[in-house]
Amino acid sequence: GMEMLTDKFSRMHTYLRISLTERCNLRCTYCMPDEGVALTPPQQLLTTQEILKLARIFVEAGVNKIRLTGGEPTLRRDVCELVRHLSALKPMGLRGVAITSNGIVLARQLPALKDAGLTAVNISLDTLRPERFEQLARRPGHRRVLESIRTAVALGYDPVKVNVVVMRGVNDDEVADFAALTRNQPINVRFIEYMPFDGNVWSDSKMVPYRELVSRIQTALPDNPLERLSDPTGEVAKNFRLTGHRGSVSFITSMTQQFCSDCNRLRLLADGNLKVCLFGASEVSLRDAMRGGASDDDLRAIISVAVGRKRAAHAGMFELAASANRPMITIGG
Ligand code: GTP
Ligand code: 5AD
Ligand code: SF4
Repeated sequence: GMEMLTDKFSRMHTYLRISLTERCNLRCTYCMPDEGVALTPPQQLLTTQEILKLARIFVEAGVNKIRLTGGEPTLRRDVCELVRHLSALKPMGLRGVAITSNGIVLARQLPALKDAGLTAVNISLDTLRPERFEQLARRPGHRRVLESIRTAVALGYDPVKVNVVVMRGVNDDEVADFAALTRNQPINVRFIEYMPFDGNVWSDSKMVPYRELVSRIQTALPDNPLERLSDPTGEVAKNFRLTGHRGSVSFITSMTQQFCSDCNRLRLLADGNLKVCLFGASEVSLRDAMRGGASDDDLRAIISVAVGRKRAAHAGMFELAASANRPMITIGG
């Protein structure tokens, strides 16, 4: 049954995000501090066998979607193998194995990932201007990200989701250009409200609220009214289409309109910690339990207690900015 994954607010956690590595080949300012982060020593990272064992336990308990994240998940050498083994859990109820990538080395891995059973692709891209990319990501690679998006479209992923973290004075002048990308392509551009994490020097003045994004897009593209689409249960985005466009635009409103009451997500971090909410410091080490000889039943009990302690909602953006969490790079979104 679903008891292990149901919390005291009756939320069923059917979506597991697995961070495959803390490493990244970009240095985005909103995701990691200038000085970088201390990486967990390799022996303390989950092995592939450990990830697969935990994934099976979660799927047996009712998880039906797994998303691979990072750091940058494509930097894990055996990412294809992992996708293949996770896909083998489909007969047990897993419906999808997805990935969120920065697109730097994704293009050349995508055919093999698709062959291994990858069902959905989200790619982060915060600017359409090549010269701006390096300021934001502190590394080159704009052309390669665009190539990864094209490859994902060509391989038939529909839609390919493009994640745009909007920051005032940084890339908010590109909102309409991003929306226009959806005119002829099966792309879902998702504008994300900038969120505070350890080391990312968030400020509310840099966060552009969802309402403002909607009105800016509508003003820039007055001939294509935004029509509201339905939001599949368990997804964090509010979905729209610009009338007449092939693709869609969405808004992830974590800061101004939190969606915690419908939350269905759990996170398994690269170091083996289970994190029950994107925000807050509450975590439990499944790695230590496994390495200490815990049985599957023991693991289920530990997971169940952690899920049971999940709070109703995050504390609000100012409280989050002041409270301890991790740098985003070690959470994976
Ligand atoms: P889908 O599985 O396609 O719905 O993707 P996703 O939006 O869940 O995942 P993705 O990795 O593309 O993340 C996009 C943005 O949503 C990132 O900024 C994430 O931090 C944010 N996000 C993902 N899950 C949660 C969540 O549970 N709570 C909040 N507040 N934000 C989330
Ligand atoms: N606020 C909002 N979204 C963020 N992401 C990374 N850091 C932040 C932040 N501070 C997004 C990335 C990626 C996803 C996993 O999370 O752009 O698309
Ligand atoms: Fe779920 Fe926490 Fe995100 Fe709210 S902030 S939607 S509870 S993960």
